[in-house]
Amino acid sequence: MGYLKPWLVPKNEEKGHKTKMPETKEKFLKLISNIMNNEFNLSELFPNSNDQDIILEQIEDLKKCLDSFRPLEGRHIEKLDQYFDEVYTYDSTTIEGNTLTLQETALVINKGVTIGGKSLNEHFEIINHKEAIDYIKDAVKKKNSYNKRLLLDIHQLILKNINPQDAGKYRNIDVFISGSEHKPPTFLQVESLMEDYFKYYEDNKDILNPVLLSAELHNRLVTIHPFIDGNGRTSRLIMNLVLLQHGFPITNISSRNDLREDYYKSLETSQVNGNHEVFNLFIVKNAKESLIKYLEVISANGEESEKGLYFYNRVEELIKNK
Ligand SMILES: Nc1ncnc2c1ncn2[C@@H]1O[C@H](COP(=O)(O)OP(=O)(O)O)[C@@H](O)[C@H]1O
Ligand SMILES: [Mg+2]
Repeated sequence: MGYLKPWLVPKNEEKGHKTKMPETKEKFLKLISNIMNNEFNLSELFPNSNDQDIILEQIEDLKKCLDSFRPLEGRHIEKLDQYFDEVYTYDSTTIEGNTLTLQETALVINKGVTIGGKSLNEHFEIINHKEAIDYIKDAVKKKNSYNKRLLLDIHQLILKNINPQDAGKYRNIDVFISGSEHKPPTFLQVESLMEDYFKYYEDNKDILNPVLLSAELHNRLVTIHPFIDGNGRTSRLIMNLVLLQHGFPITNISSRNDLREDYYKSLETSQVNGNHEVFNLFIVKNAKESLIKYLEVISANGEESEKGLYFYNRVEELIKNK
């Protein structure tokens, strides 16, 4: 008689699962097929609101749903992350003026091809941005904390091969933001404002809601505008560094014209009136959207049918209460 391999142990003898498994699995599979057939979508179960506290509660719940699928690993998670990185790179560089389409962006990232008629700099912007995403993911894995060194490293990557003199350095001239009423502070103040900025981070990193912390760091950084160029992309990467550090998926600000306008306007409101609420709400809504998109894909994947108990139970509950 051969020895028993653990993976050959019949399911009902496994500790903890016992007889519960078949019933639960059946329920999962039915919910998965409902999601796949678009019989409901998560945005309906977590409806829109303009109340920041309500959305933050939804985010907490969606986060628990996502956590119930951990560990997040496997081929489909890799594909999902790859897709999120492509869309994020496309949107963040498009906001900045890059003219490559989403498909072209994906080709440059994945196949290293060059796109006819597009400048070398536009290619570098895509490659650099993807490299910077990998950098922040690595920093999260290594549990590196956010500080001046890390910020300058990210900026260095963003302007690499494009503007080597200014890459990874605070600016030494005054700048304007085109189309904006906000005039960034004189370069003479940048160093000390950035010290205050990192002090704000240290004082708040363990007490502020992580989504609000990510929004504040984004907003405060672009408002100081410490770099000659690349402030927007770098700030969005810092926001995502903080989100990833807290187990959230990457949050993307769409380059679609109307949404880009909302983004600029909400920044302008905080700069002109000192009111950060509009921008915070904008980011909180974005973070919720990303969680929903991520969960929709994960939960619809059959491979995960033995995970996600909290999610499936929660969805069932929300459908019942509808
Ligand atoms: N009032 C504002 N209106 C528009 N953009 C603003 C405003 N304040 C700050 N910004 C930021 O400035 C960024 C553009 O600055 P820039 O240094 O050119 O960054 P990048 O080259 O990465 O776009 C925008 O993406 C936005 O994040
Ligand atoms: Mg720019």
